[in-house]
Amino acid sequence: MILRQVNTISDKCPFHKCNGDGLVGYIFLENGEEVERWGNCECLGVQNQPKIRKQAKIPLEFKDCTVNGFDTSLYQDQVTAKAAKKAAGNFVLKFISFKQQGKGLYLYSKKKGSGKTRLACSIANALIQTQSIQVKFLRTLDLLDMIKDTYKKNSGLSEKEVIDSIKQCKVLILDDIGAEKPTEWVCGVFLNILDYRISNRLVTIFTSNIHKDNLKLDDRIVDRLYKMTIDIHLPEESIRRLKSEKEAEKLKELLDD
Ligand SMILES: Nc1ncnc2c1ncn2[C@@H]1O[C@H](COP(=O)(O)OP(=O)(O)O)[C@@H](O)[C@H]1O
Ligand SMILES: [Mg+2]
Ligand SMILES: [Zn+2]
Repeated sequence: MILRQVNTISDKCPFHKCNGDGLVGYIFLENGEEVERWGNCECLGVQNQPKIRKQAKIPLEFKDCTVNGFDTSLYQDQVTAKAAKKAAGNFVLKFISFKQQGKGLYLYSKKKGSGKTRLACSIANALIQTQSIQVKFLRTLDLLDMIKDTYKKNSGLSEKEVIDSIKQCKVLILDDIGAEKPTEWVCGVFLNILDYRISNRLVTIFTSNIHKDNLKLDDRIVDRLYKMTIDIHLPEESIRRLKSEKEAEKLKELLDD
């Protein structure tokens, strides 16, 4: 039972529970004795959000995308589009269950431009906004380049530092897996990162134009992808193409006017 709060409260805390330092302390009555305990204030997450958002490195194009704003009316295959949107929304709502099991997602369609990266970023934005979760977005090709850069002379960070920061982030989005040349080195890097994430039950979200079974990566990586993700299919339609066609039509009207 809580007897009283011991920390001071100020307007600096949006929840009026701490004095802005993110710490709350209470005196509890336990077995007839008064015990003082301190914990984190709920404002901590909210205060950290700008920092989390900056570190997430979501591409500018998708920085403000939301799951709700995912327009399913653009697709011919409404059933698949709606199912993908619903699954993405539920993943955010029930994230705690996925987190407990370290299960992420594999957003897949053969077609480029169907909205995989957009949906993955929308999920990331929602996790940051609703739960202040630390997210990192990385195109797999950029990940490999970042590691290669550490082999150069005078590079800032060591290979270990770069790999550790990717291994350890709470939610990792690996965009476009399968776009890389599957060398032994590449497979080694992926295995290193994925094994750590599986052992520590950290959630990873992948996007890909290639079905898990058809990836030209080591079988051990495919096994791990099955272990750590659930598939979300996107329609085999290019919304990018559709949008550019619509834009071109509008401009053409201007010309024909
Ligand atoms: N459901 C959608 N609603 C609105 N715009 C979309 C949707 N899906 C895709 N787009 C747009 O189409 C383009 C391609 O999407 P993207 O996510 O990059 O495709 P993919 O990763 O599947 O190749 C982007 O400009 C994106 O904003
Ligand atoms: Mg993409
Ligand atoms: Zn507070």
